Amino acid sequence: MLRRLNFYSICFAFGVSVLLILAGSRYTDNTNYRPSSESRRNIRNYLKIEDGENNSPQPLPTNPDDGSPNIEKILEKTRTKVKFDLINYNYNTSGVQKLEDLLMESGGRPIRSLIISTWRSGTTFLGEILNAMPGNFYHYEPLLNFNIVQIRGPPYSEKALSTIKSMFNCNFYGMDEYFEYGKVHAYQFSHNSRLWDHCKYKKELCFDADFTSKFCKLFPFQSMKVVRVRLRLIQELLEDKQLNLNVVLLIRDPRGVMQSRKHRDWCLPAPDCWRPELVCADMISDYVAAGRLLKQYPGRLMVLRYEDLALNPNNTAYKLLKFLKLSPTPSIEEFLHSHTTVEVGGVSSTFRVSREVPFRWKNVLNFSNVEDIQMVCKDAMDLWGYRMAHNASHLASKEFNPLDQFKVTQ
Ligand SMILES: *[C@@H]1O[C@H](CO)[C@@H](O)[C@H](O)[C@H]1NC(C)=O
Ligand SMILES: *[C@@H]1O[C@H](CO)[C@@H](O)[C@H](O)[C@H]1NC(C)=O
Ligand SMILES: *[C@@H]1O[C@H](CO)[C@@H](O)[C@H](O)[C@H]1NC(C)=O
Ligand SMILES: *[C@@H]1O[C@H](CO)[C@@H](O)[C@H](O)[C@H]1NC(C)=O
Repeated sequence: MLRRLNFYSICFAFGVSVLLILAGSRYTDNTNYRPSSESRRNIRNYLKIEDGENNSPQPLPTNPDDGSPNIEKILEKTRTKVKFDLINYNYNTSGVQKLEDLLMESGGRPIRSLIISTWRSGTTFLGEILNAMPGNFYHYEPLLNFNIVQIRGPPYSEKALSTIKSMFNCNFYGMDEYFEYGKVHAYQFSHNSRLWDHCKYKKELCFDADFTSKFCKLFPFQSMKVVRVRLRLIQELLEDKQLNLNVVLLIRDPRGVMQSRKHRDWCLPAPDCWRPELVCADMISDYVAAGRLLKQYPGRLMVLRYEDLALNPNNTAYKLLKFLKLSPTPSIEEFLHSHTTVEVGGVSSTFRVSREVPFRWKNVLNFSNVEDIQMVCKDAMDLWGYRMAHNASHLASKEFNPLDQFKVTQ
């Protein structure tokens, strides 16, 4: 009897938490969302589904022996939620007519967006903007388990590219190393908020290739950020017609990058991370690759400087969405509004983005630090439009504006 009671209370608690997760994520997705009368009807239907489950005298049909969640049920709820969250979405912007055209589960092709950058270059913020899209599945850093290396070619390139490709195809089978790494590094999954909603209470779900593959296929938008692969190698992915990938290259002033990497203990043992000459050689390589790819794959690559994004987040974000064929949603507007006006602590907090942040290095580095970087980065800085500080007083002066124009030439 006691066991039975216990079982019911667990089921009840599970039901309530699922409801809370769904309700919570709905509000974050749709703050300021004013439903039309049509979608109001849908809210009612949606709530009815949930009410039914929670008021029902029957416990959720989970397995009484191990309390494992019902995967089919999670998938069904997610299908409903994605549909609901995108009820007012303008599919025309994405070049299709309806949601199913973007769902792998229905044989459609999702909008796939890949952010290529390097450590401490503002990818967290950019990634979160894209993840503010309802119906986005965020493949956060699939190459964490490669550790702190830059992949510029063999021996790692083949495996890295095939991992990226598999994940964009929602094929997580055989990715044992990825799952093993995630078991001890939860942040590999937690940035993928829509997946994490389910596995924060049931970690096994995140390590389950079958569940992850099926779940992934329910999402019309698939974004990924990668800081360990140089742009040159991405050509192979752009060639893949079925993948139809759009790529955003995010660049940052090497002085800002190096300052931000200082005192990061994970960075120090890795020359790819702490040696400015390697960072800047990669910037040159990316510049050359960008010129070539812009020409070979028009409309498929966008280059972006972190400083421009931080100084002008709204306009830059709208340009980015247009490039990616994503229609702006109220949740994106709300995200931009709330994340560009307040400053909140925490190292990787995306709340810090404001006008001062990209230039913080000017106050933290002394001229001798800056000179060390500039000496090996001159060419990269010229190409990407970053101006030199000539001396200590120039560096400290208000007149010094590190940003110049830049143009990627082919
Ligand atoms: C959808 O987009 C096409 C061009 O891409 C345009 O001709 C058409 O009018 C649009 N339809 C709607 C309903 O906005
Ligand atoms: C952001 O930019 C878009 C498009 O340029 C514009 O319609 C919108 O009003 C802007 N929002 C704010 C808060 O500036
Ligand atoms: C600049 O800062 C470094 C530490 O980053 C310090 O070792 C060096 O002495 C400083 N140089 C000057 C000229 O203040
Ligand atoms: C520092 O650089 C500025 C700008 O190039 C120059 O005008 C100034 O004379 C320099 N100051 C010193 C002390 O060299």
